[in-house]
Amino acid sequence: METLVVDHPLVAHKLTTLRDVRTDSPTFRRLADELVTLLAYEATRDVRVTDVTVDTPLTPTHGVRLARPAPLVVPILRAGLGMLDGMTRLLPTAEVGFLGMIRDESTLKAQTYATRLPEDLSGRQCYVLDPMLATGGTLAAAINFLFDRGARDVTAICLLAAPEGIAYLDEAFRGGDRPIRVVTAALDERLNENGYIVPGLGDAGDRLYG
Ligand code: PRP
Repeated sequence: METLVVDHPLVAHKLTTLRDVRTDSPTFRRLADELVTLLAYEATRDVRVTDVTVDTPLTPTHGVRLARPAPLVVPILRAGLGMLDGMTRLLPTAEVGFLGMIRDESTLKAQTYATRLPEDLSGRQCYVLDPMLATGGTLAAAINFLFDRGARDVTAICLLAAPEGIAYLDEAFRGGDRPIRVVTAALDERLNENGYIVPGLGDAGDRLYG
């Protein structure tokens, strides 16, 4: 598994304001949206394209267009929904699937309450959106849903990740034959005793949606 922590002053600036306890929900939503677009720029570096010829006003020349089948973007409800617009702004032709998952706050185990994905994901590049990668249980389950349907590779875009979650995913998918990438704005210090990322930004779902 590959982990990319995007090192860019605009990413760090927006993330700092997201972390700030004084940032209200409307500002949090706007900044999360902007931050995703910056992360998505890096996350889509390996998106597949096909060669085409295009006519400029002067002459034909070579170019590229996104390959078919289109990438699949999968926000994990609820908090991942706050990242969808920022992602599809960059990939407007992407198809969108949905996974509803909630972490049981006493066991920290992920439970799935909604699944709306194409049946056949053979050959598809998939982008999972979830602001927080904490223990990694939610993202591991999401990746398994996508691989079970034939996804070719999965890139997760997270605003924040904990080292424990990265280690969990690394172990869970070790030796697998399909690529997994995690792209994040920051790798934080640790999880606390309640499974929250520290220093973190609190509960992303609550800060987005109350
Ligand atoms: C949060 C977060 C991730 C998950 C991370 O969602 O958005 O989906 O927890 O935890 P994990 O890495 O330990 O599995 P939450 O369960 O709070 O649901 P919500 O998005 O509906 O607020």
